[in-house]
Amino acid sequence: MIRLVITGNPGVGKHTCAKFVSEKLGRAKIIDINSIVLNNKEAVLSRNALNGIEINVKKTHKLLLEELKKAKDVVIVGHLAPYVLGPTGIDLVAVLRRSPYQLGKIFLQRKYTPVKIRENIASEILGITLYDSLETFGRERVVEFDVTEKTSKEIADDVISKLHKKSKKQIGSIDWLSLVYEKGDAQRFLEY
Ligand SMILES: Nc1ncnc2c1ncn2[C@@H]1O[C@H](COP(=O)(O)OP(=O)(O)OP(=O)(O)O)[C@@H](O)[C@H]1O
Ligand SMILES: [Mg+2]
Repeated sequence: MIRLVITGNPGVGKHTCAKFVSEKLGRAKIIDINSIVLNNKEAVLSRNALNGIEINVKKTHKLLLEELKKAKDVVIVGHLAPYVLGPTGIDLVAVLRRSPYQLGKIFLQRKYTPVKIRENIASEILGITLYDSLETFGRERVVEFDVTEKTSKEIADDVISKLHKKSKKQIGSIDWLSLVYEKGDAQRFLEY
């Protein structure tokens, strides 16, 4: 039985990676947290145009547990993972990290508003999903991967190799804050 979580900021490439990982694991079931929320009215507390969707954390957690019961090997995907899952039974939490410069391009392609772009880039620079994942799942389960110059296939191979290795997990090696300071972009990205 495999229970793998793929999380990270919007736009880092979670869903693309999950498809490759699932195939390599022999068609493990992909559980997409966003789809679960969007397909269940009870999982949504409110919607507004500005901030998007506010979710019912308890209900979403329950729905995910039901989905998990139904499948043997699963890849659970979504940026909300640290808020709607618990550590029990989870083998590995892969936090994908992408350079803020590449993320910016992806957000422009997605036609995000300037405010949404800034918020999401700041969140990646500060590593919010990583820290929230550590809090929820514990240090022994969490690994971060710099996916910036990698193909989806390479990323999938890296994730699977960590899944099979019981060695110490790696975090703390990715430092976008220093990168944007060096390039003189910290003020622009973090608005101080
Ligand atoms: N390894 C990669 N190299 C280059 N571009 C990639 C890679 N993986 C994904 N992309 C591209 O980056 C964009 C975001 O990918 P994807 O939709 O998988 O991200 P996501 O993390 O699932 O985002 P969200 O959280 O918003 O669902 C897509 O345009 C995708 O084609
Ligand atoms: Mg996606």
